[in-house]
Amino acid sequence: MANSDSKFFNIFSLVLGILVLITILIFAFSRAVGQNTQGGHKLADAKYLEQVDQRISGARVAIAGQDNSALAIRPAAGAAVTAALALPTDGLSTYQTVCGACHTQGIGGAPKSGDKGAWGPRIAQGQATLYKHAIEGYQGKAGVMPAKGGRSDLTEELVKGAVDHMVALAK
Ligand code: HEC
Repeated sequence: MANSDSKFFNIFSLVLGILVLITILIFAFSRAVGQNTQGGHKLADAKYLEQVDQRISGARVAIAGQDNSALAIRPAAGAAVTAALALPTDGLSTYQTVCGACHTQGIGGAPKSGDKGAWGPRIAQGQATLYKHAIEGYQGKAGVMPAKGGRSDLTEELVKGAVDHMVALAK
């Protein structure tokens, strides 16, 4: 009886030991496989770094005469998206929601609203030129004015209204 108990114990221990060994082997194997597809290795991948570079660069560069809608100011995540993306209703609200993003602070070389020195020579070009530059966009000495301020869905009337508003601010 004692003999068969110890025999059972030995076999039982052997089976347990084999199971533990298999577990360790599977663990080590999965680690070795995972090393090629996960973790720090990815950050050293030239192709991955190149893709990250592509995503970062160009994201904020406006190009005259091209679709710069990616530059339009997007509402913060969680904000009332539908309201923020709705078409502005007049020149003033167009200025406030679209153009002001650059022109209020003079970002990227944009002539600052209300700055008579910056606007004087521009106004002197005539209203038609200002409208044209605002609607079609252009590359000037100071920077790039994106077509319709980057909101290609704006009507020409709204853009003209916003120009009128900025011109009035500089008078
Ligand atoms: C992404 C920034 C940005 C936004 C948004 C933007 N502008 Fe501009 N705007 C500029 C810059 C930069 C210039 C100056 C370019 C130069 O002369 O070098 C400019 C210049 C202008 C000028 C002067 C044109 C001239 O001939 O001197 C007008 C008018 C103007 N913007 C109207 C608008 C209107 C209207 C909107 C909104 C619909 C708007 N802008 C939105 C950057 C912006």
